[in-house]
Amino acid sequence: MSAVSSCRICGGHLHEFFEFGRQPLANALISPGHDGEELLFRLAVGICRSCTMVQLTDEVPRELMFHDAYPYRSSGSAFMRDHFESVAHEFLDTELKGNGFLIEIGCNDGVMLRTIAAAGMRHLGVDPSRGATEAARSQGMRVRNCFFDEASAAGILAEEGPANVIYSANTISHVPYVESIFNGVASLLAPGGIFVFEDPYFGDIVERTAFDQIYDEHFFLFTVRSVANLAERSGMQLVDVAHLPVHGGEIRFTLSLRGAREPTARVAEMLRAEDARGLTDLATLQRFSMAVQNSRRALLALLRDLRGRGKRVVGYGATAKSATVTNYCGIGPDLLPFIVDNTPAKQGRLTPGSHIPIRPPEAFSRPYPEFAVLFAWNHAREIMEKEREFRKTGGRWILYVPQVHVV
Ligand code: SAH
Ligand code: TYD
Ligand code: ZN
Repeated sequence: MSAVSSCRICGGHLHEFFEFGRQPLANALISPGHDGEELLFRLAVGICRSCTMVQLTDEVPRELMFHDAYPYRSSGSAFMRDHFESVAHEFLDTELKGNGFLIEIGCNDGVMLRTIAAAGMRHLGVDPSRGATEAARSQGMRVRNCFFDEASAAGILAEEGPANVIYSANTISHVPYVESIFNGVASLLAPGGIFVFEDPYFGDIVERTAFDQIYDEHFFLFTVRSVANLAERSGMQLVDVAHLPVHGGEIRFTLSLRGAREPTARVAEMLRAEDARGLTDLATLQRFSMAVQNSRRALLALLRDLRGRGKRVVGYGATAKSATVTNYCGIGPDLLPFIVDNTPAKQGRLTPGSHIPIRPPEAFSRPYPEFAVLFAWNHAREIMEKEREFRKTGGRWILYVPQVHVV
């Protein structure tokens, strides 16, 4: 674990604005019978006074997070499957019309790539987590199990040639060595090609007090300003942005090689909007910090009150995000006896740090609890729809974004 008090990108001064204390790795689920010590690291977040990039102060080695047993599977949500299918169709109808070559960084189980592959389009997925990519491979997608960076990009260029589209979702923000990725992308892009990535938007995190978006894997919390600065450093430029209603609010950033495309008006508009709301002003960050502490107090008070009144409460969705919530708030099996989750690789294991058992979704209705903390709040619509019987039995959902409330 290495601590940095300077910006991982430009070396500028890092102003720390929130510390969660020592936390486990969010996806380091514990298997039964495993009594080894858990790895803890200091989770704190700061902003660079020079390039404005919001980032963690401490870096976890990549091999400890992304390995063959990495449990996250992208295809567990129907809403996200639809989202990625339409992303793929958009590329097939525009940038890849006729033919082309698409590379996906962090393809996981092939949730996006499968539509590209089904269309017969040349593609390559790059992802170090072998278990997560098994499904993609078995469905005929081409995948390399390695970390994408400048070095692996050189190998890909030599063997595959340049790409028309390099796409990545929920991965670029996971990478402290992001400049190496950007340099690799710039070397692999065909002259008119584009680099498109989607990641959580710091603007939404602040607006919704979505503090659970902060954990080891989310090393960077992007703004349009910070990504525009970052692009410049690798000979690229930010040419388009789109605000997406996925995972609680993301931005799709589109980059091209410098001078290859004309930036849309949306880029300037979003830069203006970020300035107008003072998104990275110290006063805003201070308000965020107060709101996070209030959220923690309110959630803990509610759960303790329910326990005191003998109510049955469980968790829904053993998300990476829930690791920050349970460990920062001090929520263990005494307050939540179990969390249900539809990911087979998570079931039968314990949440990191907080040691709450994870059970399959069938456990939810046997019998229904009286309250359920929705840790997968970004999938609220899909899950509430699927679990409408719960409400009919009088069950209530507990949400903590944008503030603690019961529905
Ligand atoms: N794109 C999917 C998966 C996101 S999870 C989605 O949006 O749902 C992040 C994925 O990035 C994991 O599968 C992880 O193994 C992978 N990853 C992490 N670092 C990477 C790197 N340097 N190059 C390629 N993939 C990486
Ligand atoms: P997600 O919010 O996508 O990501 P992260 O782990 O990065 O915070 O995780 C959603 C979790 O919720 C995932 O483990 C699968 C689970 N889930 C269900 O159990 N049922 C569902 O219907 C959906 C959509 C997700
Ligand atoms: Zn910086």
